[in-house]
Amino acid sequence: MKTLISGGTVVNATGRAPADVLVDGETVAAVLAPGSTALGVDLAAHVDQVIDATGKYVVPGGVDAHTHMEMPFGGTSASDTFATGTTAAAWGGTTTIVDFVVQYPEQNVLDQYAAWHEKAAGSCAVDYGFHQILSDVQDSSLHAMDELIAEGVTSFKLFMAYKGVFLSDDGQILRAMQKAADNGALMMMHAENGAVIDVLVQQALAAGNTAPVFHGLTRPWQAEAEATSRAIMLADLTGAPLYVVHVSAKQAVEQIALARDRGQNVFGETCPQYLYLSLEEQLGAPGFEGAKWVCSTPLRSRAEGHQDHMWQALRTNDLQLVSTDHCPFCMKDQKEMGVGDFSKIPNGIGSVEHRMDLMYQGVVSGRISLERWVEICSVTPARMFGMYGRKGVVAPGADADIVIYDPAGHTSIGLGKTHHMNMDYSAWEGFEIDGHVDTVLSRGTVLVTGGEFVGRVGHGRYVKRDLTQYLV
Ligand code: URP
Ligand code: ZN
Ligand code: ZN
Repeated sequence: MKTLISGGTVVNATGRAPADVLVDGETVAAVLAPGSTALGVDLAAHVDQVIDATGKYVVPGGVDAHTHMEMPFGGTSASDTFATGTTAAAWGGTTTIVDFVVQYPEQNVLDQYAAWHEKAAGSCAVDYGFHQILSDVQDSSLHAMDELIAEGVTSFKLFMAYKGVFLSDDGQILRAMQKAADNGALMMMHAENGAVIDVLVQQALAAGNTAPVFHGLTRPWQAEAEATSRAIMLADLTGAPLYVVHVSAKQAVEQIALARDRGQNVFGETCPQYLYLSLEEQLGAPGFEGAKWVCSTPLRSRAEGHQDHMWQALRTNDLQLVSTDHCPFCMKDQKEMGVGDFSKIPNGIGSVEHRMDLMYQGVVSGRISLERWVEICSVTPARMFGMYGRKGVVAPGADADIVIYDPAGHTSIGLGKTHHMNMDYSAWEGFEIDGHVDTVLSRGTVLVTGGEFVGRVGHGRYVKRDLTQYLV
């Protein structure tokens, strides 16, 4: 199958140019001067299909490096399966996800890895890779890290919160980081001081403060900044590279920026919810409504300026990329578990379908450039997690994962079910986007066109990742 995408503006991290893109089979064969002729040959006459991208941007497919499909968590499971979540991802222009295999205490890491493959194989509409969560850092887990790297799982997440569920103590973190310093893995950190949070939660509940907003008030920015600083120090001690996930506090960004300025290999991601939503407006909504936005790290106070600081950090590269931390739960039967006790609300927000649009709105509002949009949504996640060259770029030899984005289009995330995620609400209801995902290709196959999903669950393939390409 040969496809010519003609008339568009190709955008990569380094710039934009009017160009036609020739796709041959699963990969990009050529990026050509507009007009679709090569050595005098009219290419349009020699391909199976021509996609007209006139007036549109032709960008590398989105790479969402932080999702939790079907994750058992908080007494329930994330409501998107690999099938529903990756189909929603395709709708929104994300053509690769990196999902987290979970090891809970006493579980065998390699058994869990096999179980995640079983869930995902044949069930994904877009390509997928895996990170591994380590909740039980013991000798067997450390040995498993080496085996997983050979399998293409080159990044490992630890938690400094959720005692008895995910939490690793500082000694365990140190041991895992020592291992990573040795084998080249990228350590990912959920940086919140769990012991402090647990006390504040018990005190709030004892005082009768049970509403969703107390989820945020009992996870203050100090708990995030302190844990971020501690993780950075432990990483420095061991020489391991560190990637801090879902950064939401400006003081945590400051810790990351200081470490980077010292020359340490420390990276940070934020998520759309920390750029747009707030403790006052969403988490503090009347009644139980705020449960829709319970996630950790929590939404922060707009009065304290965290959201503006996240945008600034993305612009200045103090933060390097945007993932969703897609971890959806329905209100009915799931979020509702926390009526009368905010600590029982499952933690997570669903956004996998909206990341490209939400971040494009940052281009429209002048917060980031068009090239930076592509960089933080596609190029850097691919490079950070060892996929760049195959993913994250429109260039000869790359997988033809391509989004044709229409800047003259419009996307309303309106009332009712205007999305395809398996959720009974949207955390983004009411958001208007001055742009639209027009056409989506994954390895040369059209998944979305003309307002329809024409892809197939089962099209998505496992991506065996290299070590991070962000280090010398
Ligand atoms: O609230 C969140 N973030 N849920 C998903 C699990 C995690 O910590 O990433
Ligand atoms: Zn986390
Ligand atoms: Zn997460």
